[in-house]
Amino acid sequence: MKKVASKSELNPGNGKVIIVEGRPIALFNLGGEFVALDNRCPHRGGSLGEGEIKDDIVICPWHGWEFNCNTGKAVENDDVIVKTYPVENRDDEIFIKID
Ligand code: FES
Repeated sequence: MKKVASKSELNPGNGKVIIVEGRPIALFNLGGEFVALDNRCPHRGGSLGEGEIKDDIVICPWHGWEFNCNTGKAVENDDVIVKTYPVENRDDEIFIKID
């Protein structure tokens, strides 16, 4: 597991792009629960970490595709999946497992 952020860096309902081992990852705070997925939108490569969050859905800032942040699945098409990463909270720190 890699430490990637402090909880206090990211308010509920917000996301950010972090680079872990050279890989851009979108990290989101969903009402206190942190989730991580590949930052690259499978449509045309939009930056999901800069997308708007609605409940547990992120909306790609480029063309509006929507993804469930917990499963990585596109809302309109279960076959389109963004890779998700296990996240652990330890005290104030956020850790991500990259394989
Ligand atoms: S690049 Fe994400 S919706 Fe087009």
